[in-house]
Amino acid sequence: MSKGLEDVVAGPTSITFIDGARGRLSYRGYDIAELVAHSNYEEVAYLLWHERLPTREELKAFTKDLVSKRRLPAGVRLSLDSLSHDCDTMDALEMAIAALGIYDDPNMPHVEKAASIASKIGSIVAYVHQHKHLLSHLEPRDDLGFAANFLYMITGQVPDAAAEGLMNAILVLHADHELNASTFTARVVASTLSDMYSSVTAAVAALKGPLHGGANEWVVEMVEEIRSPERAEAYLLEKLARKEKVMGFGHRIYKGHDPRAKIMRSYAGQIASTDEERKNLAILDTLAEAMIRERGIYPNLDFYSGFVLHHLQIPTYLFTPIFAVGRTPGWLAHVMEQYADNRIIRPMAEYVGPRDSVYVPIGDRKGGTG
Ligand code: COA
Repeated sequence: MSKGLEDVVAGPTSITFIDGARGRLSYRGYDIAELVAHSNYEEVAYLLWHERLPTREELKAFTKDLVSKRRLPAGVRLSLDSLSHDCDTMDALEMAIAALGIYDDPNMPHVEKAASIASKIGSIVAYVHQHKHLLSHLEPRDDLGFAANFLYMITGQVPDAAAEGLMNAILVLHADHELNASTFTARVVASTLSDMYSSVTAAVAALKGPLHGGANEWVVEMVEEIRSPERAEAYLLEKLARKEKVMGFGHRIYKGHDPRAKIMRSYAGQIASTDEERKNLAILDTLAEAMIRERGIYPNLDFYSGFVLHHLQIPTYLFTPIFAVGRTPGWLAHVMEQYADNRIIRPMAEYVGPRDSVYVPIGDRKGGTG
């Protein structure tokens, strides 16, 4: 029995390899640092789904196909319109992906469905954002790549090349991460031969929790609470003394540096330009140094991602939904890999409950204290 399935190898994959001891991450064998530096969202999605990098022509056709699938069906829009304006964005996302399964053509091949979900999830997040703020809905711009269009739909501004590059880097860094909780969830659902929309809906639900995708929002709250770099170390030590988890630290697989956090930190250093940003980055760095020194626990991807997203004018409540947008190509690659060589995922539990209980008729039961 392994609590939390730690160290359990649940199946083969050729999508993503994590070397937790050396702090290495690769998609289909390509090092994450190289992909972030040279690739973009579309190229990485192609790599994850088609097992190799595309040629120029293939990438052009793939990008065009994704662009053609960005618009939301009227039924999905109507479902979102019916939500209260203070709805939780992740709840809305779960509902909208499930609804998309109702409106998309069920006879499309898997890779077509994957393209539909991946293209539309960005439009859904933007739609919910506008719905929450009573803003008019922006139509996607067909002349923009995924990252630029996504930023445009959230902020209403066409981003410059630097902002587009940053958004691409964020999406590529989130694209896949082996059998993390949400991806495993997606594979469990797929393993019952349920559909892709249900698998992604379930993955969104798993991602929502603060131990997974929700951590980046908590990191920002923590930085706001700390307010100045001078207070950061004492804050951390107090939290550790109270045996509380500090969000944005630790990882099941990486026991040293998380390579994604290192890359995110280097972007953060390059973009910090205002006094506020420099102060917040100093708070983050102080926390990281103290945590490594005190516990040997390193920052994970969520530690610096909020900082970078704020720089792109993205509100905190969209951080986890953006994690979902970025992780969707990976979820879908895993779902397709599961379908290709499926066996239902059904582990066993170690039973620790009572045995041989004697059935008492309802009128004779005493009730309990619990
Ligand atoms: N703050 C304080 N202590 C932490 C910690 C954190 N963020 N992460 C791990 N630890 C400590 C635990 O308290 C535990 O100590 P103990 O052995 O003395 O009890 C030990 O490190 C192992 O942690 P555990 O929670 O069992 O590891 P896990 O593999 O089950 O969980 C995470 C991994 C990511 C869920 C966990 O590190 C965590 O909760 N981090 C904060 C949430 C977060 O940032 N999530 C984003 C992940 S990308």
